[in-house]
Amino acid sequence: MEETREKTDTQQNGKLQDLMATTSEKEFYVKAQKYWSEVPATVNGMLGGLGYINAVDVEGSTKFLRELRIKDMHKKYALDCGAGIGRVTKNLLMPLFEKVDLVEQDPTFAERAREYCTTDMGSTLGYPKRLGEIYNVGLQEFTPSSKKYDVVWSQWVLGHLTDEDLLQFFKRLKNCLTDDGLFVMKENVTSSNKTELDEADSSVTRPLKTYEKFLKQTGYRIVKMTKQPNLPKGLYPVYMIASQPLTQNE
Ligand SMILES: C[S@@+](CC[C@H](N)C(=O)[O-])C[C@H]1O[C@@H](n2cnc3c(N)ncnc32)[C@H](O)[C@@H]1O
Repeated sequence: MEETREKTDTQQNGKLQDLMATTSEKEFYVKAQKYWSEVPATVNGMLGGLGYINAVDVEGSTKFLRELRIKDMHKKYALDCGAGIGRVTKNLLMPLFEKVDLVEQDPTFAERAREYCTTDMGSTLGYPKRLGEIYNVGLQEFTPSSKKYDVVWSQWVLGHLTDEDLLQFFKRLKNCLTDDGLFVMKENVTSSNKTELDEADSSVTRPLKTYEKFLKQTGYRIVKMTKQPNLPKGLYPVYMIASQPLTQNE
């Protein structure tokens, strides 16, 4: 996966500062839209050509959710952020939650998700009755409904938001969680302790401590954090972080 491979120190040298100095925020988003518009609407496409990590990823996420011991009464509604074609929705969230909404900026992926999530494919079941709304909009512009979701899952997308938009997004999410609701993010993190830029897909990879700091700054407490095991060597480390708002609104 292009954005998943770790960069060397020389590759990231000053690039982030250069980008932020020369690229407008709008350009940052438009470049990402263009990148994703050229990616096939397949599981392999969602995983940057590493389709074979789907099983290990879903297994790690399923174990993480299971260990959070979510009560049955809190398995009504989930939201999948940056959902792509619904790989996470279909394989992780739909087997557990009665309804799943998706938010995805790319119109082709959003449309494909409707079919992908509801259709049986080989041994993978589709869940026609569990598909909720598909919101075709960027997370930076998305305001979810109040108190709707027991779990919000966000995977491999937050690097597409600027720091300021990410902080605002974290704040808006607090309102959409039910009491006891959980926000789970699963993202690549750098080992260098610096934010690194991927110009190809117009995204950044942040250090773990930046995500921890942003969550704290926007009023969350981290309830569980686990590193995804068994990924191929040479990729960025991937962390799952579950958190809850300290207060619903600031
Ligand atoms: C690496 S794929 C991951 C898809 C899915 N989360 C998964 O794990 O299979 C990244 C996804 O984020 C979407 N994306 C990129 N920028 C976004 C934004 N600003 N808001 C919402 N989605 C975005 C892309 O279109 C793409 O579907």
